[in-house]
Amino acid sequence: MVKVAVLVSGGGTNLQAILDAEDAGTLKSGKVTLVVSNNPEAFALTRAQNHGVETLVLSKADYPTRAAFETALDDALRARGIELIVLAGFMRILSADFTNKYPERILNVHPALIPSFCGEGFYGLRVHEAALDYGVKVTGATVHFVNEIPDGGRIIAQKAVYIEDGDTPEILQKRVMEQAEWILLPQAIEKVSQEIRSRV
Ligand code: GAR
Repeated sequence: MVKVAVLVSGGGTNLQAILDAEDAGTLKSGKVTLVVSNNPEAFALTRAQNHGVETLVLSKADYPTRAAFETALDDALRARGIELIVLAGFMRILSADFTNKYPERILNVHPALIPSFCGEGFYGLRVHEAALDYGVKVTGATVHFVNEIPDGGRIIAQKAVYIEDGDTPEILQKRVMEQAEWILLPQAIEKVSQEIRSRV
């Protein structure tokens, strides 16, 4: 199985969806063997521990520069033979130096239909606020490869979600997660893991 590391910063519901897909057998070509958080308080760490997955906290405060943080991250991933990196609510932008080391080996889930409401500054609830402020009637989620352009890598999967009267950013975020993110991300990991294995 492809060794997968999931990078998180917060609640980790997408991580949970991945672990649930492993348990259900729908994710069978890849296995989460490491969860890395830049936030020591992230509930995602508890979810990983409950599933018996190794966890690692790499806190920005412990590293003087982004380069030092990314070197520590790269060292940790390589030491464990990680083959696929999944950003699941990871709230830091990775530099070109880092992403260039992992071409088409980093996935991200974004809570909108790229190229709408994406790029630097669009993360978490802000994405849903922007969609509601603009007045779009359809939003959704995107899973894409990560390159040096924030939210700019090749798209792997997208799913549309309708906006409803009375939506708040919080209500919309939950619907986009339930109807799109939690479905798309495990499927994309399975697809990319199969592709990685078929190339070996
Ligand atoms: C998810 O909605 C994810 O798409 C988003 O943050 C949330 C994390 O939730 N990611 C971004 O906005 C990245 N630009 P989770 O911790 O419960 O998975």
